[in-house]
Amino acid sequence: MIHKMWCYLAVIGAISFSTVAIADPASKEISYKKDVKPILHDYCLNCHEPGGKGFEKSKLDMTTYQSLMKGTKFGSVIKPGDSFTSIFIQVIEGRVHSSIRMPYGMNGGLAKENISILKKWVEQGAKEN
Ligand code: HEC
Repeated sequence: MIHKMWCYLAVIGAISFSTVAIADPASKEISYKKDVKPILHDYCLNCHEPGGKGFEKSKLDMTTYQSLMKGTKFGSVIKPGDSFTSIFIQVIEGRVHSSIRMPYGMNGGLAKENISILKKWVEQGAKEN
């Protein structure tokens, strides 16, 4: 009887463990179209498209994947696989300087979940997926 109980517990444990693994964002593949684009659309695009303040100053246009990967007038801001040196991530984490934290002028910056999505996307290779 006791032995059987342990058996049930082990099964329940295995099931809940695998559910956690699936829900864990660390193991989830981030999609540019489904996860990244909506964040850029909501928080970046109004300044980073032709005519916008950020575009006029830096020439960084986030309208398409291609224009985002092209970067600013100084070059690319995303280094696929490396979120630490990607300027795109540095500015949303406020690592460059607090005066150029993105979204520009937004109090407190992006929500942690959104920063984490963009970061993982870069770490997973910044694919057009
Ligand atoms: C309210 C307008 C505004 C919003 C919203 C905005 N930006 Fe910017 N962005 C700017 C401006 C202005 C600059 C130029 C800053 C400078 O050169 O001092 C800029 C520059 C940048 C740069 C280049 C920085 C560099 O050092 O070359 C990156 C990368 C960037 N923005 C990313 C983003 C991201 C990602 C978002 C959304 C999460 C975002 N921006 C939202 C206005 C904005």
